[in-house]
Amino acid sequence: MKGIVLAGGAGTRLHPVTRAVSKQLLPVYDKPMIYYPISVLMLAGIRDILLITTPHDQDQFTRLLGDGSQWGLNLTYAVQASPDGLAQAFLIGADHLSGDPAALVLGDNIFFGAGLAGQLADAVADVRRDAGCSLFGYPVSDPERYGVAVVDADGRLVDIEEKPEQPRSSLAVTGLYFYDGQVVDRARTLTPSARGELEITDLNRLYLDAGEARLVDLGRGTAWLDTGTQDSLMEAGQFVQVLQHRQGVAIACLEEIALHNEWISPEQSLALADEMGSSSYGVYLRRAINAFVEQG
Ligand code: DAU
Repeated sequence: MKGIVLAGGAGTRLHPVTRAVSKQLLPVYDKPMIYYPISVLMLAGIRDILLITTPHDQDQFTRLLGDGSQWGLNLTYAVQASPDGLAQAFLIGADHLSGDPAALVLGDNIFFGAGLAGQLADAVADVRRDAGCSLFGYPVSDPERYGVAVVDADGRLVDIEEKPEQPRSSLAVTGLYFYDGQVVDRARTLTPSARGELEITDLNRLYLDAGEARLVDLGRGTAWLDTGTQDSLMEAGQFVQVLQHRQGVAIACLEEIALHNEWISPEQSLALADEMGSSSYGVYLRRAINAFVEQG
């Protein structure tokens, strides 16, 4: 399975902060926002990742992330000329995917939970075994801002609507999607919506109409954090701070995940920690590497 992180968009809701800097490079507490969605793909075991950015932000992402080999990844880049919709990621990423199954994560989506790695592994296995797509639902108090999933009494997905005025459930469809190898062909059949975008919800409806869409309810055990407004961005940073301080473990420390996945050695991760200098991220990473080595 290959991964795509979509990190374009105009970020107008956060202006002036995002006038000169991509939203997905803003800090969420102690690391850039883009680390969080990349960590989700890494937790799903995905190493071959395409990062889609705006043309003018690509340089900064390359400076931050390089070719990903420091984390055992193969990270490549593509641009989206204008924000013409989330499903366009599959047209831009067609060569990268070359018919393989794909996971798409939005560059501003933050997930955290004890059971998350297991849910990701299940989604990868489900798509491999049964094809189709796996989507993730999360209960929110303002579903009208999102794609909304409607499920029947058995929890089966029966409908998805994009930003309905009168939501029929409180289950938002999160910005993390797993698809089989048909995704590019299906994305090619889409036409722009009334707001001029190739909608991910329309793509998901194609799978749903074919009886090939599953919804995993992330439920209470997982946090899906919003970063769409100044307040929610601040709250996301505070959430990460509180959790990391209280539990002493980091969310989205890429070197630590790469080490645990055995994609890099303790020696390689120590060299990366040294590059972080005396930052709290670097201090944490050194501690995490020592604990990993001691546990054998
Ligand atoms: O976050 C989950 C929601 O994401 C889903 O529930 C919705 O179904 C889905 O349509 C999308 O909702 P939004 O309309 O709120 O997405 P937004 O336009 O804010 O874009 C999400 C991120 O993707 C944002 O960081 C910008 C980036 N983006 C957006 C578009 C439209 C791109 O990189 N390219 C694009 O063309």
